[in-house]
Amino acid sequence: MSDDNDTERRRDLGAGSCTLLNGADLPSCTIVIFGASGDLTARKLIPALQNLFRHRCLPPRYNIVGCGRSAMDHERFRQSLAAFQEENQPGAGWRHDWAEFAANIFYQPLRYDEPEDYRALATLLEQLDRERLTTPNRAFYLAVPPALYPLIGRQLGEAGLATGEEGGDGDKGQPAGEGRRRPADQPWARIVVEKPFGHDLNSAVALDRVLHGSFREEQIFRIDHYLAKETVQNILMLRFANAIFEPLWNRSYIDYVGIISSEKLGVEHRAGFYETAGVLRDMFQNHMLQLLALTAMEPPSRFEAAQVQDEKVKVFRALKPFARDKLAANLVLGQYGPGVIDGREVPGYLQEPGVAPDSVTPTFAAMRLLIDNWRWRGVPFYLISGKRMAAKETRIVIQFKEVPHSMFRRELLDTMLANRLVLGIYPEEKISLNFQAKSPGTKECLQPVTMDFNYERRQGAKPVFDAYEMVLLDCILGDHMLFWRQDGVELAWKFLDPILHACESCEAGARLLQTYPAGSPGPEKARSWVELL
Ligand code: BG6
Repeated sequence: MSDDNDTERRRDLGAGSCTLLNGADLPSCTIVIFGASGDLTARKLIPALQNLFRHRCLPPRYNIVGCGRSAMDHERFRQSLAAFQEENQPGAGWRHDWAEFAANIFYQPLRYDEPEDYRALATLLEQLDRERLTTPNRAFYLAVPPALYPLIGRQLGEAGLATGEEGGDGDKGQPAGEGRRRPADQPWARIVVEKPFGHDLNSAVALDRVLHGSFREEQIFRIDHYLAKETVQNILMLRFANAIFEPLWNRSYIDYVGIISSEKLGVEHRAGFYETAGVLRDMFQNHMLQLLALTAMEPPSRFEAAQVQDEKVKVFRALKPFARDKLAANLVLGQYGPGVIDGREVPGYLQEPGVAPDSVTPTFAAMRLLIDNWRWRGVPFYLISGKRMAAKETRIVIQFKEVPHSMFRRELLDTMLANRLVLGIYPEEKISLNFQAKSPGTKECLQPVTMDFNYERRQGAKPVFDAYEMVLLDCILGDHMLFWRQDGVELAWKFLDPILHACESCEAGARLLQTYPAGSPGPEKARSWVELL
C-alpha cells in the first residue's frame, strides 16, 4: 500500500461525503503495547482497539501483544483486561464480541532494561507471524511514563525490532521527505509516544536524538489527542473547503482570536507529573499551540500530512517572542485555591496529595501572543487554559472587526455587536456565527442572532471514533496528519522556553501567580481576557 493510498483511506473516515474505511484492505500487523498492565492500556487502548475491531476497521489478521513487568501468560492477561472492562463498563456491550477480539491478544513479560527480554519479545513476534500468517508490520505503543521512552526506544533498536523495511537505522530527525518514503507493501516498524515530548527544548532534542538512534522520523508517531478530535480536524475543513471564510481570515477583518480550554477537574492523582509541568507544559506546549496553528496557518497546497505540518511549523516560527520586561502584560498565571464545583467543596491545589505546600506551579495561564506575518500582524491571540474552572469547555473564537461605518449607530447607540464565529470543540461540538438581523418592530430594531451548525446532530448514526481509535488507526495506516513532527515540537519549546525560564528562574513566577477559587473563571487579572471569549 502506498503512502498516498494510506492518506486517501484515512480521509475516508468520518467526513460527510466519505465511506467508512474497510479493515479488510489493511495489511496485517502486530500492535505491541508497553505498559500493558497500566491504566492507559485497560482504560483506553484495549477498548479503542475493540471498537475498531467491531467496526471492521482492524486488519483481518492482527495481533495485540502486551508487554509489562508483571509475570503473566496470555490467558491471564486476557482475563485481567476482561475483569477491568467488567468493573468499569458493567452492562456495556463489550462482552458480545470480546472472545473473538481477545483471541488475538497475547502477553510477553518484559523488564524494560533487559536486552534478553527484548530478544524474547522478538522471538514471540516472529512466532506469531509464522503461526498466524501476519506480516511483520509492528507498531510499538509506549503506554509507559515518558522517562522510559529513551530506554525502550534504544532497546527496541538494539534488538533489531526497529527495522522494518522502511529503514530503522535512525536518522538525524529531519522531516520525512518525498525521497524517503517506504516502498509500497514493505513491512514497517513504528513507535508511538504520547506527550510530554521532553521538559524543555534541550530535553526534547535529547529524547529525539535517542529515538532517532533507532527509528527514522517517519517511523515515529507523537500523539496529541486534541488533533484526533473530530471538531479539531474540522477547523481545516471549515477554513479550506469553503470559499467564504478565507478572504476574511486575516488582520483586515479579524479583531482578535481567542482559544480557551478550561476544565473542572483538578490535578487528580497526577501531582507527581504536574508539579514538574504546570499548565504551560501540560496544555500550552502541545494542545493550545496546535489549536493556534490550525487556526492561523496558511492553506497547504495539498491535504497531506507533510504539507499540513509544513504550514503549522511556519506559524510556530512566526510566533513573536515575549519581551522579558513585558511578561506581565502578556501573561497571567494562576493557581486554584479551595472552592466549590458542582455544589461540592473541593480542595485547593496546595492541599492536593503530592503537591508541595509552597508550590508555585501554575494551574491556569492566559497568554496574549502575536504572530509576526503578513496575515496576522497586530492581531492578538488570547490563549487561556486552566484546571478547576467554572466549566469544562474548549472553543475557538474568531472575533471580527466592527463595521467600518454604521448607519444604525445613532439609534442603536453602542449596542451593535461585531460578528463572531465560534468553533465549539467541547462540550458543544458546533460552529456558531453571530450576526445582526432585524427584529420585528420599529424600523431600526436590530438584534444579534446566531446561526448554528451542530456537529453531533449532523453525524447521525455513523460511528465516530474517539481520539485513541483515530490515532491507533492512523498509525496502522502510516498517516502522520494527526501527529506532531519533531521540528514543530522543537519550535513550540523554543517559543515557550524563555517564558518558562523567566517564570521559573526568579520571583517573576511567584509574582505573576494569582490564586483563584476553584469553580471560578480564573484569576481576577485575567478576567477581562476571559470575558472576551
Ligand atoms: C491532557 C492533559 O493532555 O489533556 C490533562 O495532560 C488535561 O491535564 C487533558 O486534563 C485535557 O484533555 P481534554 O480532551 O479532556 O480536553
